[in-house]
Amino acid sequence: MVASARKNLPRHVAVTMDGNGRWAAARGETRAAGHRAGLVPVRICVEECTRSGIEALTLFAFSSENWSRPAAEVASLMSLFVEALDREIAELGAKGVRVRFIGARQSLAMRLQGRIAAAEQRTAANRALHLQIALSYGGRWDLTQAARKLARECASGALRPEDITEARLGSGLELAGLPEVDLLIRTGGEQRISNFLLWDLAYAELYFTPTLWPDFTAQEFERALEYFAGRERRFGQTQAQRAS
Ligand code: IPE
Ligand code: IPE
Ligand code: MG
Repeated sequence: MVASARKNLPRHVAVTMDGNGRWAAARGETRAAGHRAGLVPVRICVEECTRSGIEALTLFAFSSENWSRPAAEVASLMSLFVEALDREIAELGAKGVRVRFIGARQSLAMRLQGRIAAAEQRTAANRALHLQIALSYGGRWDLTQAARKLARECASGALRPEDITEARLGSGLELAGLPEVDLLIRTGGEQRISNFLLWDLAYAELYFTPTLWPDFTAQEFERALEYFAGRERRFGQTQAQRAS
């Protein structure tokens, strides 16, 4: 069976790419080297998604809280993001990947903001895969800025508080317009959300693996898809209801 004909394929996969630092420490290398090694599985995931027909992939690259890491590590990560964009964007574009960034982009250096805008513009018409990269992203930040948009509309008289619905709030979030997140993969062994997609993970299936991010392979991505395919999603209903 070809992968695209597979049953129960998630439409939207999110990944918390954790474990770069421990991977590097185990080799006596710098944390920066660990982050650099983490680019390999990013390419693998993009490849796996385009190959199998997954519509959207959202990668957690740098959280709101990661700003509190040592300045040298933050700087090395920011340089790596610029370098990776410069190097990968042509190939992503050629593969038909639409790249978008989610998060507080105003907090990023102008140099990086420029690369982000250019990458988004260059790939805007692509449809093979919607790739979201979460940079300076926090689920609480996302919800706060969505709430702020609604508050502005209420203050201007364009919206009544009683007309605020889940759909309206959701439309102000960063992932608005994309399919629901079906599957969250977290590498590195921790089983927590770390302020990732608080709203969007409402009914996601969760796949945790001790594999450190730089060691993540296509086989492990496949294992996560198999895990997902084996889940019975009930969305609050009973098993009997879902079966009928
Ligand atoms: C994930 O790896 C990358 C970022 C958070 C930027 P870590 O850097 O958190 O790696 P560990 O968890 O220390 O091993
Ligand atoms: C989560 O990893 C954020 C990213 C992978 C970008 P962290 O390493 O920052 O998470 P905590 O601090 O262990 O919860
Ligand atoms: Mg970590």
